[in-house]
Amino acid sequence: MKIEVNTHYKDLQESYLFSEIGRRVRAYADAHPDKKIIRLGIGDVTLPLSAPVTRAMQKACAEQADASSFHGYAPENGYAFLREAIARHYASFGVTLSLDEIFVSDGAKSDIANLTDLLGDNRIYIPDPVYPVYLDSNIMCGRRITFMPAHEENGFLPMPASDYTTGVFYLCSPNNPTGAVYSRSQLKEWVDFANRTGSLLLFDAAYEAFISGDYPHSIFEIDGARTCAIEICSFSKTAGFTGTRCGYTVVPDLLVSDGLSLNHMWYRRQSTKFNGVSYVVQRGAEAALSPEGFAACLENISYYMGNARRIKELLLAKGIRFTGGDNAPYIWLRCPGGRNSWEFFDYLLEELQIVGTPGAGFGSCGEGYFRLTAFGSRENTEEAVRRLREKL
Ligand code: MLT
Repeated sequence: MKIEVNTHYKDLQESYLFSEIGRRVRAYADAHPDKKIIRLGIGDVTLPLSAPVTRAMQKACAEQADASSFHGYAPENGYAFLREAIARHYASFGVTLSLDEIFVSDGAKSDIANLTDLLGDNRIYIPDPVYPVYLDSNIMCGRRITFMPAHEENGFLPMPASDYTTGVFYLCSPNNPTGAVYSRSQLKEWVDFANRTGSLLLFDAAYEAFISGDYPHSIFEIDGARTCAIEICSFSKTAGFTGTRCGYTVVPDLLVSDGLSLNHMWYRRQSTKFNGVSYVVQRGAEAALSPEGFAACLENISYYMGNARRIKELLLAKGIRFTGGDNAPYIWLRCPGGRNSWEFFDYLLEELQIVGTPGAGFGSCGEGYFRLTAFGSRENTEEAVRRLREKL
């Protein structure tokens, strides 16, 4: 062929982190069909959807089977019933949102990557280590990227530095992969910095429901955030929707640059390139935020945090340094024995048949670290802990 292609794709790693891990694990499983592999790599939930959610989805399915209650295309920004439920969820943290600031989508991953459509050639600031979609989606657009190192000395929470200039800053709290969470005063510093420099904060709150301490669940709890931040969130981890797909993005009315409203731009983008989330799924998501549904979400989160506690106790007993597992479903540990991240990945897979995620896959500052997820079943997590206790 002779067409022009987006050559920035040449700058990407050969495969997306979790695809690469999947490929290596499949290769090992094919070669060792007798081994029981425990997967604590990708943060995929294992508990089923809760009863309030599935009841609401079954009812919605029945409505779709009847001409008088059938729904065709959904509104591109989501049904009002779900946006109202999301607005009530934010009101529970003291944040007031208007319905036209909330955009329902098929998940946080796509929204985070698609937000690059709104942006020109800015300097992009990305924490290192962090969820790889921020980096890959910007490499695909050929953006200039500056990494913000996250390490033990700054508690894995980068703060504005004196040489940072106007740009787009990705923040993730509670953090994937380190589990670190920004305090109110730290986020206030970010918001003040962004307003002073005319920067945009892209705040990923996908793990907010796992917060148990006194930390902000939303950037919009911070004064001034409505003029400098977009927030992305998801039902995947909160309500077990990884395979059901539903998320949302909040774009405040007050975000304006170069005479253009980012809220209007996002609506324009979504209505052109996206046809909404299915009625059945949105009814399920609405049910997840009902009092009964949210209680079920918290019960599942507490089950996963019970897994986190078991992993943390083991690491403490082994004297292995770690963070996370308190306000996030991830445990971020120092690879024992001076191994690098991928060496430790191979060791765990080959010797203990446990899959985790190599820290280096989240950025170069993640080298020498490793992430375990608490999203496994209790049985598999306990079995993994037993293997680690005996052989690590
Ligand atoms: C992760 O393991 O980091 C997440 O599950 C990936 C995702 O949410 O896309």
